[in-house]
Amino acid sequence: MSTQLTPILTKTWDEPQSWTLATYERYDGYQALKKAVTMPPADLVQMAKDSGMRGRGGAGFPTGMKWGFLPAPDGGPRYLVVNADESEPGTCKDIPLMMASPQLLIEGMVITSFAIGCNHAFIYLRGEVVHVYRRLLRAVEEAYAAGYLGKNILGSGFDLDITVHAGAGAYICGEETALLDSLEGRRGQPRLKPPFPAVAGLYARPTVVNNVESIASIPPMLLHGAKWFAEMGTEKSTGFGIFSLSGHVARPGQYEAPLGITLRELLEMAGGMRDPSKKLKFWTPGGSSTPMFTDQHLDVPLDFESVAAAGSMLGTRALQIFDETVSVVRAVSRWTDFYAHESCGKCTPCREGTFWLKQIMARLELGQGTKDDIDKLLDICDNIYFRAFCPLGDGATSCITSAVQYFREEFEAGMTTPAAELFPPAASTLFAKETVSA
Ligand SMILES: Cc1cc2nc3c(=O)[nH]c(=O)nc-3n(C[C@H](O)[C@H](O)[C@H](O)COP(=O)(O)O)c2cc1C
Ligand code: SF4
Repeated sequence: MSTQLTPILTKTWDEPQSWTLATYERYDGYQALKKAVTMPPADLVQMAKDSGMRGRGGAGFPTGMKWGFLPAPDGGPRYLVVNADESEPGTCKDIPLMMASPQLLIEGMVITSFAIGCNHAFIYLRGEVVHVYRRLLRAVEEAYAAGYLGKNILGSGFDLDITVHAGAGAYICGEETALLDSLEGRRGQPRLKPPFPAVAGLYARPTVVNNVESIASIPPMLLHGAKWFAEMGTEKSTGFGIFSLSGHVARPGQYEAPLGITLRELLEMAGGMRDPSKKLKFWTPGGSSTPMFTDQHLDVPLDFESVAAAGSMLGTRALQIFDETVSVVRAVSRWTDFYAHESCGKCTPCREGTFWLKQIMARLELGQGTKDDIDKLLDICDNIYFRAFCPLGDGATSCITSAVQYFREEFEAGMTTPAAELFPPAASTLFAKETVSA
């Protein structure tokens, strides 16, 4: 059993003022950049390929391969855009990372920009997190003052500017092409692909879009080597990642561990269920858009392949844990409200479908469902899944189809009995009343 945490991205998080440049420099900060600027950029791309790292933003696309897709330089600009939108319900790894260790992200951005020949990089941040925005702005300022950004970085002749952009807060702006439209000042809606961003991305120029955690993994990878990275995790899902545990768990939070660790192992480290007398009922391996698992899946290795083989997706490793006091119908109803609200409206299956799903889930939650409702839910999901314009629509169906698969009887009960009667909300509340009002 792997009980070992791998504090690599999180190693400075317990330091007082972990976010300052001074703290970061005490922990090998910018040593990887010093090495990078002496290397041919192509070797850095090769390093990312050799590490086998798959993107940490959810889809798991190999990072080195993505960098390698950029066409040969033509004298025009090329861009790196860091996806810091982090809006998937349950996902909370990028925001803590940027709060605790913004310089790690910035160093990763400078190295990546050097590797791909970019002189202007962007961080697209979710708009609601104003505290993170301020922290990033200050960190960028510190990096400029120390000569890690700007002109002739570390005397290498390489120039890089970073712009931190706060969006207006929309889940769809995490989808990479909607993000690019939003960054260009347009309404954030997905673009038709191809062309992919590597060919025509920001301002129609070659662009790499990577997740915060992917880019923050680059400095330690360069310092220790691609082999060191690849030796962690599993054969096809190499390296480490931040697993975010939330919900009915004794010590919720971020646990950095090799890919392939199981929920059973993580739960042990997190002190088990919040109330040990209550059984684990269901959980998401990668946020609300990944099909839910149950207590049968406690030993599924949390790597891309094993989670897929068990019928779900690793996604963003957002492990939301629900004990037996929770109504699955109520939980799914809340997620469905979210998807209906966040649907960008561009395509009919998702725009109309999520609206109908919301109506049906609402009446099942109230115990007012009709006998056809379960079939209707599944039929609508079938008409959205793989027929919508982007994966937001697919994600909206996952919680419903998997919940019906594992807990059909609760949906049937929704034809006669309100969820609040079967599972009183007070029994599953996460915080005692006094704590909330304090
Ligand atoms: C609706 C939707 C929301 C997404 N939100 C995010 C996000 O917040 N952060 C992120 O990195 N990727 C998000 N993605 C995935 C991105 O489109 C893209 O795959 C990712 O940024 C690529 O980075 P990576 O290769 O480093 O994983 C989202 C995708 C969809 C369909
Ligand atoms: S699937 Fe939903 S979010 Fe994606 S383009 Fe269609 S309407 Fe917009």
